[in-house]
Amino acid sequence: MYKIFDTVDEVSRYTTQRLLDKIRTQPTATLGLATGSTMEPVYAQLLASLHNSPLNVSKLTTFNLDEYIGLSADHPQSYNYYMHQHLFNQLDIPEESIHLPDGLTDNIDSACQCYSNAIKDKGGLDLQLLGIGTNGHIGFNEPLTSFNSRTHVVELSEQTRIDNSRFFNNKAEMPTHALTMGILDILEAKEIILVATGKHKAQVMAQLFHSSIDESLPASALKKHNNLTIVLDREAATLLP
Ligand code: F6R
Repeated sequence: MYKIFDTVDEVSRYTTQRLLDKIRTQPTATLGLATGSTMEPVYAQLLASLHNSPLNVSKLTTFNLDEYIGLSADHPQSYNYYMHQHLFNQLDIPEESIHLPDGLTDNIDSACQCYSNAIKDKGGLDLQLLGIGTNGHIGFNEPLTSFNSRTHVVELSEQTRIDNSRFFNNKAEMPTHALTMGILDILEAKEIILVATGKHKAQVMAQLFHSSIDESLPASALKKHNNLTIVLDREAATLLP
């Protein structure tokens, strides 16, 4: 299902409403969360809404999609830091219920396995929030990632390094590798909301619309899912038929 809104603000309000509905009807839900520019207005809206009409969030569990390898949780560009800055520091979710892949682990294989297993142990993700890369990545699952993948290490593509180097002082500072939930972990979520805003997402959204289910476009895996909502602003929807 596509939902197209005129502005980023409306996109954020709609997405927040969906998150609030989930929290209200299932206070013990397990949420899959994303970082990135797209989510900043969503999390700001969510915090504002919860400030005005508080809900009990203390029983939620969260799993983030990804983390850079080599960045500690207190590195300002780490996703752990991002999530605390934009959301967790102002929410009453116990720290032990918050999960992100550990970018500093010295046993990557076991850390990856444990991450996917921890999601399964919670009964899977009840709702997964996703952004999309300009190359069609979801999480950090770059083009040609297997649709059967679980949490794994990725070498970031040149496109992703260019896109995300804006957050670092220069491209050389940007990590080359990351840990990401796999595509299968994402597809097993009961409900998925993919959010894309801005002109720079128009091309990939058109590609996604026309694409068959193909590993060259990771987001096309979502077409297999039976409870997917794609939320766009007018600019990201410019090239849709
Ligand atoms: C972030 C993530 C990525 C981003 C995508 C879009 O946790 O998993 O897939 O959602 O790179 O990033 P923005 O929103 O910065 O355009």
